Amino acid sequence: MPRGTIQICSQCGYQTPQWLGQCPGCEAWNTLVEEYIPAARAGRAGKRAGGGIRPVRGPENGPKLAPRLLSEVGAAPVERMGTGIGELDRVLGGGLVPGTLVLLGGSPGIGKSTLTNMVLGNLAEAGRRTLYVSGEESAEQVRLRAERLSPGALRVPILAETDLDTVLHTMAGEAPEVCVIDSVQTLNAAESSGAPGLAGQVREVASRVMELAKARQIAVILVGHVTKDGALAGPRVLEHLVDCVLQFEGERERPYRELRALKNRFGSTNEAGLFEMRQGGLVEVLDASARFVAEATCAPGSVVLAAMEGSRPLLVEVQALVAPSELEQPRRVVSGLDRNRLALVLAILGRHGRGFGPHPPADVFVNVVGGMRVDEPGIDLAVALAVASASRGVPIKGPHPPLPRACFGELGLTGELRWVGHPERRLAEAAKHGLKGTIAPAGSGADACEVGTLRDALAAALPVEARRPARAAA
Ligand code: TYD
Ligand code: MG
Repeated sequence: MPRGTIQICSQCGYQTPQWLGQCPGCEAWNTLVEEYIPAARAGRAGKRAGGGIRPVRGPENGPKLAPRLLSEVGAAPVERMGTGIGELDRVLGGGLVPGTLVLLGGSPGIGKSTLTNMVLGNLAEAGRRTLYVSGEESAEQVRLRAERLSPGALRVPILAETDLDTVLHTMAGEAPEVCVIDSVQTLNAAESSGAPGLAGQVREVASRVMELAKARQIAVILVGHVTKDGALAGPRVLEHLVDCVLQFEGERERPYRELRALKNRFGSTNEAGLFEMRQGGLVEVLDASARFVAEATCAPGSVVLAAMEGSRPLLVEVQALVAPSELEQPRRVVSGLDRNRLALVLAILGRHGRGFGPHPPADVFVNVVGGMRVDEPGIDLAVALAVASASRGVPIKGPHPPLPRACFGELGLTGELRWVGHPERRLAEAAKHGLKGTIAPAGSGADACEVGTLRDALAAALPVEARRPARAAA
C-alpha cells in the first residue's frame, strides 16, 4: 500500500490501514476504498487509523477545568424558522433551527429538489435571506422547476457550483439565513482525494459546511442520495455529524411521499409528514384517512388498519391476495411492510388461526394501499385478517356497510392479541370517519370490539359460514 493512504468503508466510514474484504465496522463486503490522507492531517489520522496509542499526558501537566452543574448551564430558547410547509415543520419539531445541519435523504426523483426549492421560496417570500447551491443541475434547470412552484421560488438566489471552497466563500459572503446544498455528493473538496461522492469527500464537505454553519448561524439543508437498499449512499458517517436526518420515501410511480425523521436533536423522531406530488410541486396531504377509507374496496382480502404515523393516527387499507402456487417455495410478496412481519403473521395464523391461514402451497401478496409504509407492530392483526379473508374469499364487513371494518393490534407468538400504543387516538380516528366496532386488543377502549386472541378476532371479523375449513381455499 502506498504511503499516506488509508482504507475507508464507503458505507460506515470505518478506517483501517490495510485492505480487508469485510468491513469490521458494519460487516459489509467489498466496501473499503483507498483514500489519500490530506497532508496536514496525515500524521494524526495515520496514528488513529493504525490503532496506535496516542501519547498520554500525565494528570499533573494537563490543563484543569472546573465542570459546571447542568442546572447552572444557561440554555437560550431555540429559535425556529417556519418553512411555510406545515408537514415539514412538524417533522423538524417546529421549523428549522439556525446554525444546524439537516440531511435530507431520498432516492432520485422522489422530490428532494422540489421540496427544498419550495422551502427556500417560502422563506424568501417571508423576507429571509436564502441561497440554493446546485451541484447537480444547472441554474436554468432549477429555474424551470421553480417556475412550476410558488412565485416566491423565483426569488431565491442560486449558485450552480461544485467546488467546495467557492461554495463556502460565497456562503460566507452572502450570509444567508437558510442554505440548501443539492447535493452533498456532488461537491468537490480540493484537499481530499478521490471522486466526489466517496466517503472521505462527503465527510470533508459536510464537516467544513458544518463549521461555517455553526460559526455564521446558517441553517443548512444537505440533500443526499440513497442507495437502492435505502441507506444514505456513502455518507452514513454524516448521520453522526448532522443534527437532523430526514428521509423522503415513496414510490416514484405513485403520488404519495412520506417524510420521516430518523434522527432529530431538536424534536421527536416519531413524526411523519405526508405529501402528494402534483403539477405545482408537493402538496401536503391532511385528509389521508378520509381518502383511504373512501377508496377501501371491502372485497375479500381487504381490511382497514388504524395505524399510528408518529403521534398522528392514520387509517390505511391493507390488502391481501392468496393464490395457488406452482413454486416449490411459494411467493411471499409485500409492499409497504416488512417481509419478515408477513412471515411471522403467516406462521401465527397457521398455528393459531383455526385453519384460516392459506393452505400450502399458496402465494401470498400483502399490500398497504397508496404506496404507504407501515413500520409498527399494530399492523399484525390487519395482515392476519386480510390474509384470512383472502384465503376464504369472504369479505370483512363493518357493522355499517358499505363502510369497511377497522382493526389494529400486535400478535404474540402464542396467538394472543397484544396492546399497542395510543389505542384511544386510533379509535377516535376510526370513529371520526364513521367506522364502528374496530377490532382491537383488550384494554383499548370502550368503543372498540375488544378481543384477546387471534381466534376471537377472526370470529369477530368473519361471518360464521366462513369459518368452515374450505376444501380448496388456496
Ligand atoms: P425532483 O425534486 O427533481 O426529485 P429529486 O431531487 O429527489 O431527484 O422531482 C422529481 C419528480 O417530480 C420529477 O420526475 C418531476 C416531478 N415533479 C412534479 O410532478 N411536479 C412538480 O411540480 C415538480 C417540480 C416535479
Ligand atoms: Mg434533485
